[in-house]
Amino acid sequence: MEHKIRVYSDSVLRRKAEAVKKIDDEIISLLNEMKDIMYTHNGIGLAAEQIGVLKKLVVIDLRKDGNNDLIQLINPEIIESEGIYEEHEEGCLSVPGYYDVIKNRKKGVKVKYIDIDGNERTIETDDFLSVVLQHEIDHLNGILFVDRLSPVKKAFFRKEWRKLQKERKTAE
Ligand code: NI
Repeated sequence: MEHKIRVYSDSVLRRKAEAVKKIDDEIISLLNEMKDIMYTHNGIGLAAEQIGVLKKLVVIDLRKDGNNDLIQLINPEIIESEGIYEEHEEGCLSVPGYYDVIKNRKKGVKVKYIDIDGNERTIETDDFLSVVLQHEIDHLNGILFVDRLSPVKKAFFRKEWRKLQKERKTAE
């Protein structure tokens, strides 16, 4: 089983993921494959949708100070949020080459999830991990970060995206 990263505007990225009911070998191997794909592409987060799998699975590793710090989340859900995060830039492995500032991310979130060993856990954070969690959980709901841009910025994105695609075709 080998999965590839799905790229905008693949319709799978628009669908809603289903909750995982049982952590079996398939789920564990999916999480490990997602981790490998994330590292290969130098990403800091990946949702299963991004490899075409409609299950509520997310991997995150901010690699602070160059150290691996992997979090594997099953059925993650934001249960509390507050404030507005200061401006920052986001990117996405499914929208390669495009980065932009999202203005409406929450500052703090509390996320509950199940870990790979089946334990219920929560993360409470108000630093950059909060933004990454919101970005990845958006994926599970079929939402991309570029959907959260203002109308003017969305128009700019579409123009830039066409340009990026042309450059990619020329480079092939
Ligand atoms: Ni993403």
